[in-house]
This record gives sequence, structure tokens and C-alpha cells, in this order.
Amino acid sequence: MLSGIQPSGHLTLGNYLGAIRNWAQKQDDYDTLFMLVDLHSITVRQDPAALRERCYQFLCLYMACGLDPDRNTLFVQSHVPAHSELAWLLNCYTYVGELNRMTQFKDKSKKHEANINAGLLNYPVLMVADILLYQTDLVPVGHDQKQHLELTRDVAQRFNALYGDVFKVPEPYIPEVGARIMSLQEPTAKMSKSDSVESNYITLLDEPKRIVKKIKRAVTDSEAEVRFDIENKPGVSNLMSILSAVTGKPFDQIERDYAGLGYGQFKQDVADALLAELEPIQARYAELRQDQARLTEVLRRGAEAASDRASDTLNRARDVIGLVAA
Ligand code: TYM
Repeated sequence: MLSGIQPSGHLTLGNYLGAIRNWAQKQDDYDTLFMLVDLHSITVRQDPAALRERCYQFLCLYMACGLDPDRNTLFVQSHVPAHSELAWLLNCYTYVGELNRMTQFKDKSKKHEANINAGLLNYPVLMVADILLYQTDLVPVGHDQKQHLELTRDVAQRFNALYGDVFKVPEPYIPEVGARIMSLQEPTAKMSKSDSVESNYITLLDEPKRIVKKIKRAVTDSEAEVRFDIENKPGVSNLMSILSAVTGKPFDQIERDYAGLGYGQFKQDVADALLAELEPIQARYAELRQDQARLTEVLRRGAEAASDRASDTLNRARDVIGLVAA
């Protein structure tokens, strides 16, 4: 099992509920690799010092969320050059038309009009390489990565059809609840870690008081009925998704629990449930962040383990294409 997050912006509740939490829950059932995909994050401009700092911060959050470096390979994508090399090879097996159709590319091109660089277009091919390099079975991601996973499967099948079974064709794992956490103020758009409006998202390191405030101010509607209806009640439905993902309560039970109670109590309970989930993570984070030597060592070991595993598939791909052995 393999997945990754870009070290850009702040790690949000969306990243946690859509991805990291599911990784931690599955870490004992699979042989797992989890990355900090720094090469993906430079498709938009990053402040160099902040990018470096964020890699350590996100690693620390991975660990604070329960990912044990002794049971998972935790590493930085750019520490394993095989990702870039396989991405180049696979660029030659991916059509420009496919990349132009990626909705994330279209969205990001609109947002970063002044810098639509080639990396932004080729970004999904690097993700394809990340996944295929390790013969991955399962890729746990949020809903917004579904199209990239479909591309991964298409490229793997295309390559295998030409050269035999070189790559395993992976499956996405998208959780039923939590795969699509929406912005708190604009609940028809996804909660994004690079959003410039702070009240739209909750970060894993937001102070408890701030979390309560953001939930209390989250957009709802003029009814007073807690009911799951994404079309007509996107704000309330989003808060229900958060509560359901955190507590495990199904939607119909949440609806029954708040029948006749209005939004005040409901929002208070969403905030309380979030604090109960996030406060222990914040405490572990504060402790882990003290030990820089340990973090550096985790990344060194992770890069070594990932590099060892990546070389087999890369060499196989080079060989079947007809590149002369080094
Ligand atoms: P990224 O960094 O944008 O997001 C990391 C993970 O968080 C999930 N996610 C969400 N889930 C639910 N609700 C949300 N609002 C929300 N926002 C983000 C994403 O679906 C993702 O799982 N291209 C990827 C990173 C990547 C990757 C990979 C993932 C690079 N190589 C290989 C898996 C396998 C990305 O930009 O995710």
C-alpha cells in the first residue's frame, strides 16, 4: 500500500479524514510506504525554507497521527531518484490529451495562470511513477485523486500490453465517509490546504479555540434541520460527514440524535468530537517535533528502504524498453 501528501500549505482535516487516518488504520494489514511528495509540490512556487521546514513538520504529523516509522516506510519522494527516472520513461507512454483532461490540471491552470509550467501538466505522470514503482496493490486517497488513479491504471495496462506484466495494476481505496471534506465557508468546494482564506479549513495544528470558532462559524442554511442532503444542504452535510467520520456514527443516527435540536448543539458536538480527535495528535506532535535527530534518521532509513525496493521495477522497465544496462 502506498500514498503521499504534498508538503505545501497546512495539513488539513480533509487530508486527515480522506487519507492519513486510513493509512494509520491499515498499517498492520499491508506492507506500507508513505511519502512526502516534495517534487509534486514544486509545480507551484514554494518558499525554499518553508518547503524544507514543512517536510519535517508533515513527517512529524504523520507520526503523531499514528504512523509508526518502524512499521511503515516513511520517506521524501526526492530522496529516491527512481521516481523521477520512471516518470520520464512513463511520460513517453502517456498522451498529452490524457493530461489535458485532468480536472486538477484544469483547476490549477486557472489558479496559477502566470505559471502553467510543464511540471503542472506532467504532474500526474510522476504520481503514476510513484505508484507503479513499488508494485502497489492499494492506494488510499481522497476522492479528488480518483482521476489520477484511473490514469495510473490506464498507463500500467498500456505499458503491460506492449511489454508483458511489468507493473501491477493498482486499486484506489477511497473511504465511504471522509473522502470529500468541503470548505467550511464555501461547502461546494473542497477543503484545500492551499486555500488563502483561513476560515475555510481546519488544520491539524489549529489551536482548540480556533477549531471551535471555525466550526461555529461554518456556513449552514436557514432551516434548522440536521439532515444529509448534499444538493440542498451542503454546509450541514459537510459537518455531518466530519462528525460521522470522527465518531463512526452513521448519518441516519446523527439525524435522529439532533431531531428538533437545531444547529447550535450540533455544531458544539462536532467541535467537541474534533477536539477529542485532534488534541492527542497535537500533544504527540509537540513532543516528536523536539527530536530533530530522530526525524532526520527516520527519513534516512525510509529513503534507503524505498530505494532498495524501487530499483527492481525501474530496472525491469528500462530493460523491456530496450535501454542498455548500466
Ligand atoms: P494532496 O497533497 O493534495 O492531498 C493528500 C491527500 O489528502 C486527500 N485530500 C482530501 N480528502 C478528503 N477531503 C478533502 N478535502 C481532501 N483534500 C485532500 C487527497 O485525496 C490525498 O489523498 N497527487 C497527490 C499526492 C500524491 C500521491 C501519489 C497520492 C503524489 N503521488 C501517489 C497517492 C499515491 C496530492 O496532490 O494529494
